[in-house]
Amino acid sequence: MGQKIGIGMLGAGNVGGGVVSALPTLNNRYLNLTGNELELLKVLVRDINKKRIGLNDSQLTSEIDDVISDKSIQIVIEVLGNEQPACEYIKRCLDAGKYVVTANKEVMAKHGAELLDVAHKNNVAIFFEASVGGGIPIIGPLMRDFGANKLTSVTAIINGTTNFILTKMSEGDISFEKALIEAQNLGYAEPDPSSDVEGIDAAYKLAILCSLAFGFDVDPYSIDRQGIGSVAEQDFKYAHDLGYTIKLLSTARLIDESFSVSVKPTLIHLNKSLAKVDGVLNAIQIEGDLIDQVMFVGPGAGPQPTASAVLADVLELVRNHLDRGSYSVDHGSLKSMSVQSKNDVKSRYYLRLIVQDQVGVLAGIAQSLGDHGVSIASMIQSGEFSIGDTVELVLTTHLAYESAILSAIEHVKRIDAVQEVGNIFPIDGVEEI
Ligand code: NAP
Ligand code: HSE
Repeated sequence: MGQKIGIGMLGAGNVGGGVVSALPTLNNRYLNLTGNELELLKVLVRDINKKRIGLNDSQLTSEIDDVISDKSIQIVIEVLGNEQPACEYIKRCLDAGKYVVTANKEVMAKHGAELLDVAHKNNVAIFFEASVGGGIPIIGPLMRDFGANKLTSVTAIINGTTNFILTKMSEGDISFEKALIEAQNLGYAEPDPSSDVEGIDAAYKLAILCSLAFGFDVDPYSIDRQGIGSVAEQDFKYAHDLGYTIKLLSTARLIDESFSVSVKPTLIHLNKSLAKVDGVLNAIQIEGDLIDQVMFVGPGAGPQPTASAVLADVLELVRNHLDRGSYSVDHGSLKSMSVQSKNDVKSRYYLRLIVQDQVGVLAGIAQSLGDHGVSIASMIQSGEFSIGDTVELVLTTHLAYESAILSAIEHVKRIDAVQEVGNIFPIDGVEEI
């Protein structure tokens, strides 16, 4: 027997707008089959005077209590963004016995375990498929479908805005600044886009993936992180010449009793699948003992793909939980595990240096690297992007400890003819070029 399911929504921006525009079709296509209907009863916004497509004045409120006290609202969709007041509102909704669906990675990365507990105590649930990978289903598979595996690594492109910007730069299309504005106009970027550009959004998502894949509680601020702000036009040119492209890569890898976890611009060989994940697409590659390797690819941001994930959670609640009264998530007990220090993390590296074009410079640099056990794999010298009598030296290394690279670079900086260290990026993969 069908029923009306009362929905409350916190926020009506990019994602909220996507949910509003998808709801009528969803009601027609699927829910009428069962006789159920989703009714958007109240929508919390800051400015109730702003015109919103698909919403009327009676649905809008700027008072959270209008949502929490409405007994006919069973499910609350949280698409406000930022940590507070979103986290506080989610708790209050759960305490009021409402199910919650959220797209908020910051809240889930910092308070996920606590919110799952609050939901459990109140016999409701919090679903968060939209918090990672936009339209890609990844939270569900990690919670359910990989259960028989010991998962060993997650390698992912999980920020649509930066992937969009890097793709545009790689194609030599437009500047960083113009690409960011385009990403904002398309509804990909966070309310504060520095969260995307500095890799913070990706770190939140990686922390969520780690907790589900490995059962580890990872503080997102402990993740070794580097944003894309320093990636320059010439880095793409040199990377392409070497057979690579550059992506903001998020990786978590179990190594013995600890794990390495980082978000960094990384060179990826052009023949790898991840190198072909362009624009707003995201990709999440999971490795486990039974599956070997599985990769998910799809749109990682934007109103429609994100609405797809939000509404999938709502449908899951309607189909499988609301009728049955109570639901509890078995999230297990999250363990703390040590994150590897730079002394233990090994990779190949790309180094770009700006140096005076003088006799002996290269020998000095090679000596500094060699003294720290870093072996050079290839070298390019180019005057294409340099000013005056300087040239750029691009070196790639064989596998080396990050700590060794960083100490060697400190020595390199002291060589008189070295003007600047442009960039140091890891190179994905262990095989030699
Ligand atoms: P947005 O466009 O900035 O929209 C935020 C909405 O929340 C606006 O409607 C705003 O009201 C409302 N709001 C914010 N603070 C409020 C407060 N204190 N009280 C009442 N209303 C408040 O953000 P978005 O891009 O839709 O993102 C929303 C969430 O989804 C974020 O957690 C984001 O990380 C996540 N997400 C976004 C995407 C994406 O592609 N954009 C994808 C996946 C997940 P006004 O309209 O009145 O200003
Ligand atoms: N700002 C985020 C991104 C939205 O660009 O990936 C999706 O989480």
